[in-house]
Amino acid sequence: MPLPDCSSMIDELRTERLLLRPLTLDHVDDYFRVCGDPRTWEHVPSGRHTSRGESARAIEHSIASRRRYGFGHCAVVLRRPEAGLAAGSFLGSAGAAMLGFDAWNLGYRFAPEAWGRGFATEAAGIALAAARSARPETPVTARVLASNPGSVRVLERLDLELVWRGTSSEAPAGPDDTTHLERLVFADRPLSDETLDAVIALD
Ligand SMILES: CC(C)(COP(=O)(O)OP(=O)(O)OC[C@H]1O[C@@H](n2cnc3c(N)ncnc32)[C@H](O)[C@@H]1OP(=O)(O)O)[C@@H](O)C(=O)NCCC(=O)NCCS
Repeated sequence: MPLPDCSSMIDELRTERLLLRPLTLDHVDDYFRVCGDPRTWEHVPSGRHTSRGESARAIEHSIASRRRYGFGHCAVVLRRPEAGLAAGSFLGSAGAAMLGFDAWNLGYRFAPEAWGRGFATEAAGIALAAARSARPETPVTARVLASNPGSVRVLERLDLELVWRGTSSEAPAGPDDTTHLERLVFADRPLSDETLDAVIALD
């Protein structure tokens, strides 16, 4: 069943140290710098963006999610200088996009120079709150590989519940397939069997 469109869109979000601004095509170069960096895809190397166009398409997907459902992914910008990073620095992205069914997919990706300072937890926390406020009736889910302890920890820090842990295939179907790797699914509420099955089936 198609979801009803959203009447209002989430704008800029603010935390103690960060600004989260909806990603636009003005962010393509910064976004590509982060998403094209192999260090930010250590656990899923095939996901690395290999062209600016790929980053632009991902941003367009986020813009469409925001237009239709009220929220998408955001550019995360530092408000004040910290640890050698200038005010206004593009640190990475965080937000949530609507899956092909009624569930948000929470996500974040930060530049290596910004790791280890609590930025992902801070940004993902307000993104989680924004997704809930845009569509309170829609569960927020997040998928993470067990081999990515930093990301697992972010989700634990947000008090999301672990709702599934496992692999969805015995062996990779191709070089880019990660379904044989152990994955964890977190959610902000119990999921229906149908929704959980759909999240597990994502590649
Ligand atoms: C995963 C990632 C978002 C973490 O960002 P970050 O800003 O360093 O995270 P935080 O500083 O908020 O740390 C959150 C927690 O994870 C822990 N953590 C961070 N990196 C870790 C690592 N590599 N191994 C173990 N724990 C780690 C921190 O110690 C902290 O735990 P604590 O609160 O108990 O002290 C960042 O490394 C990243 O962008 N990685 C590449 C993209 C990615 O994997 N995205 C998620 C895909 S599911």
